[in-house]
Amino acid sequence: MKRLLSGVKPTGELTLGNYIGALRQFVEMQKEYETFVFVADLHALTVYNDPTELKRRIKDIVAVYLACGLDPKYTTLFIQSENMYHTNLAWILECNSYMGEMSRMTQFKDKSKGKNNEAISCGLFTYPDLMAADILIYDADVVPVGVDQKQHVELARNLAERFNNKYGETFKVPEPIIPSSGAKIYDLQNPEKKMSKTENSSKGCIMLLEDVESARKKIMSAVTDSESKVYYDKENKPGISNLLAIYSSLKGISIEEAENKFKESNYGEFKRCVADEVVKLLTDIQNKYNEVLESGFADKILDDSNAKVRAIAQKKVEEAFSKVGVGR
Ligand code: TYM
Repeated sequence: MKRLLSGVKPTGELTLGNYIGALRQFVEMQKEYETFVFVADLHALTVYNDPTELKRRIKDIVAVYLACGLDPKYTTLFIQSENMYHTNLAWILECNSYMGEMSRMTQFKDKSKGKNNEAISCGLFTYPDLMAADILIYDADVVPVGVDQKQHVELARNLAERFNNKYGETFKVPEPIIPSSGAKIYDLQNPEKKMSKTENSSKGCIMLLEDVESARKKIMSAVTDSESKVYYDKENKPGISNLLAIYSSLKGISIEEAENKFKESNYGEFKRCVADEVVKLLTDIQNKYNEVLESGFADKILDDSNAKVRAIAQKKVEEAFSKVGVGR
C-alpha cells in the first residue's frame, strides 16, 4: 500500500481553506493509502506564538482532525515534536539545500516582505527543509496539500533526488496531490488573497469551530461584483469564483455543474445555498469535535502512534547518518 503524509501547522484556528485544500483530502484518501497525518507544531515556532495558546491549539487540531473524519483505524495521527527524528533529518537536508533555492520559496518571500532582516527568524528561512524532512523520513509516496504548499513539496522532491545522487538511494521521491477544485480558497472580503488562519480579516475567514450563524453572515456579506450573474471567471469575478469553488468542493461536484445549477440565480440566492453548505459542514464538525473532547480518547490515539512513527523515523535517520558518514 502506498503511503500518504500531510500536516497542518498550529498557528491559528483551522479554516475552511484548510479543510477544503487539505483535511478533506486526507479523509477521502485514508482508506486507499497508509496514511500519516500530523500536527506540525515545530513549524509554528518560525514566528512567536504564545506558548499556552500554542499548546491549546495543538490539542484542538488533533480533535478537529478526528472530528473531520480521520479514523485511527486507517490513519496514524501524531504530533511532530513528539518525534525528535524530524529535526535530525532536517539538519542533514539543510546542509544539502542552498541559500539560492531557499530564497526563491514564495511563502518565505511573502512572509518576510517588508520586514527588517533582524526580525526574520532563520527558522522561517529553513522551514521548507523541516517540511522536506517530515515527508522524506516516512518514505511518503503522496503529499496532499493546497496549492500554496506545492513548491515546498517540489523542494522535498529535489532534495530527495539530490541526496540519492550524492550518497546513494535513500529517499523516496514524493508526489504532491493538489485538489482539482478548492486548491486555494480566498479571503471572502479580499478574494485576491488566500483565506489564512493568521493573516486575514476575521470577516473574510471562516474558522471550522466558529459560531455557525457568524459563518453564515460572512458568506452572505462576501465581496462580489456588480454583474449579478453566477459563473466562474477568476480574473474578473474573484469573489463569485471563490464561492463557486467552496460550493463545488463541499458538494463534491465540478465547477461547471455548480455554474449550471446557479445559472438562473441571483447573488442572494446563490450565497444562501453556499452558506447552507458551509453551515452544514461546520455543524457536523463541531458536533463531532465536542464528542471527541468528551470522550478523551485523543491522547490514547497519540500515545499509540508514538512508538510506530518513532521507529520508522529512527531507521531512516540512522540510514541517512550512515550514508553521510557521521557517527562511529
Ligand atoms: P498550513 O498549516 O499553512 O496549511 C495546512 C494545509 O492547508 C492548506 N491550505 C489551504 N488550501 C486551500 N485554500 C486555503 N486558503 C488554504 N490555506 C491552507 C495548505 O496548502 C496545507 O496543505 N508547511 C505546512 C505544514 C506542513 C506540511 C508538512 C504539509 C509541515 N510539514 C509535510 C505537508 C507535508 C503548512 O504550513 O501548512
